[in-house]
Amino acid sequence: MPIKSLIRTIPHYPHKGIMFRDITTLLKDPIGLRTTIQEITKRYQTYSIDKVVGIESRGFIIGAPVAYQLETGFVPIRKPNKLPAQTIGRDYQLEYGNDRIEIHADAVQPGDRVLLVDDLIATGGTAEAAVRLIREMGGEVVECCFVIDLPDVGGRTRLEKMNCKVFSLCKFE
Ligand code: PRP
Ligand code: ADE
Repeated sequence: MPIKSLIRTIPHYPHKGIMFRDITTLLKDPIGLRTTIQEITKRYQTYSIDKVVGIESRGFIIGAPVAYQLETGFVPIRKPNKLPAQTIGRDYQLEYGNDRIEIHADAVQPGDRVLLVDDLIATGGTAEAAVRLIREMGGEVVECCFVIDLPDVGGRTRLEKMNCKVFSLCKFE
């Protein structure tokens, strides 16, 4: 069964007008979960990735098994005040509100080839902030990988304008 058909849509969550794309239905399906991780892993097998960086929280669920399969390290980008050591952070705007993300200051080394992973790109605000943090540390973002792209919201274009490659397993127009 295609990945897209396993994703559930909840209208008006968490706010009126938002069509929430819910990956829990994909994750609970054994073949859906396995196919998602395998398809991403297959794409990046030959990219010489040093680190997979995943964005809290749904980016952890996808990013950590991808890192395991690619035999790379995994680095979390977290919401504020969650990481215990020295961090660098950025504020950004979300499709529904404001937020901030942080990464450990020693998590990425200059020259690291980084794969950025999240479940979904909407406005691209979160991913843009993440790319800027990784670049600030001297990392090279080889590609940004999402399970879901919402092209109408413009995130992919926003990342491409900052010279970032973008890949997604499916799109919801
Ligand atoms: C969601 C999603 C992405 C982000 C995409 O995370 O998982 O991280 O929003 O939106 P954007 O492209 O407009 O920035 P959310 O902040 O809801 O956190 P969660 O994964 O912890 O639910
Ligand atoms: N994060 C931002 N926009 C979203 C959406 N429409 N569905 C699920 N997660 C999201």
